[in-house]
Amino acid sequence: MTIAAHAIGFDVQRLRRDFPILHRTVRGRKLVYLDNAATTQKPQAVIDRIVRYYTEENSNVHRGVHFLSEIATAAYEGARTTVKRFINARSEKEIVFTRGTTEAINLVTSSWGGRNVAAGDCVLITAIEHHSNIVPWQLLCEAKGAQLLVAPVADNGELIQDEYRKLLERHPKIVAFGHASNALGTINPVKAMTQAAHDAGAVVLIDGAQGVPHSIVDVQDIGCDFYAFSGHKVYGPTGIGALYGREALLEAMPPYQGGGDMILSVSFEKTTYNALPYKFEAGTPNIEGVVGLAAALDYVGGVGIENITAHEQELLHYATERLQELDGVRLIGIAREKASVISFTLEGVHPHDIGTILDQEGIAIRTGHHCAQPLMMRFNVPATGRASFGMYNTKDEADALVAGLQRVIEVFG
Ligand SMILES: Cc1ncc(COP(=O)(O)O)c(C=O)c1O
Repeated sequence: MTIAAHAIGFDVQRLRRDFPILHRTVRGRKLVYLDNAATTQKPQAVIDRIVRYYTEENSNVHRGVHFLSEIATAAYEGARTTVKRFINARSEKEIVFTRGTTEAINLVTSSWGGRNVAAGDCVLITAIEHHSNIVPWQLLCEAKGAQLLVAPVADNGELIQDEYRKLLERHPKIVAFGHASNALGTINPVKAMTQAAHDAGAVVLIDGAQGVPHSIVDVQDIGCDFYAFSGHKVYGPTGIGALYGREALLEAMPPYQGGGDMILSVSFEKTTYNALPYKFEAGTPNIEGVVGLAAALDYVGGVGIENITAHEQELLHYATERLQELDGVRLIGIAREKASVISFTLEGVHPHDIGTILDQEGIAIRTGHHCAQPLMMRFNVPATGRASFGMYNTKDEADALVAGLQRVIEVFG
């Protein structure tokens, strides 16, 4: 990935003013929030949009002819158009709102997998997946008597593409991989991997939880069949996300859950299902989440995702160099293409202790297995410390992290 020295018109200090939480203190210290891969903070525009929804627009969607219901429905469906444009889907019918990436993947394993995977089939995932892109496939394979294949990862944190291609020769029914790893930062060559999987006759699902926040996502250009992401990783609310699915595939899939809104007509003899995408949205949806998500994507679009990528890449390279100056630091995951995530261990110190000491300084990083236990086993570590940078982080904050780690070394030295 190329690094623009300074993105034109990108002013991080001005941007920080849009995020109220960044100005609070934590344990008497200035907050340094470096846990963006877990969840991002929300700009005032998102907070205001949710308040406006409840203050002026709240009503159930798709059901009433009254004024508020029309407004709420227009906002909800307008948000679908925003998501469609953001990831360049062909049509709103291809955008299903879900609780997040996890539910989107479960929708596919349950509905598509339930219909298309049978005993003796295989499903291919990779060694760098989040548990959300492992366990649903395990459940499916167990239920069907199918086999789960796992493409291995090299010592630098990149997938071994030759091995991936060898496993494709086993003709998996579906291949599922992350756009970027939350635990290592590795960005996968998603377009080439999709093409190779299609050439082998497989359907492709991409876990985009860490793709959408850090890079331009064009599902048509990538060519994938399904793409899942979460609002809260991209400066939007929690509990909302979306599944993109190619229309022909979604059309042929049975409903995921039954209930209101997903039907055309119900009788005890036979129920007929609603058109796409409503067939997959049973029950009253998370309307506040949907309008908040659209506000977040509008905000990100306003800042410019290419500006965000350039800024985060600059921070990633700066922080990586500075961390390497410290004695005993081992970086886990040094792929050539990385999102702004740095996983590390410190010799002789448990990651949990690193996190606790940094917390005393107001610095929030994540420590643990990052919902990627098989990956931790692969690298022979029980856990890592993980600093992950978002659009509002600064080099000063990277310096604060390094200074905090120096103190950890002093304490344990
Ligand atoms: C790569 C990846 N996949 C899936 C998920 C699950 O996302 P959610 O909990 O929002 O469903 C996460 C969250 O950490 C993630 O980083």
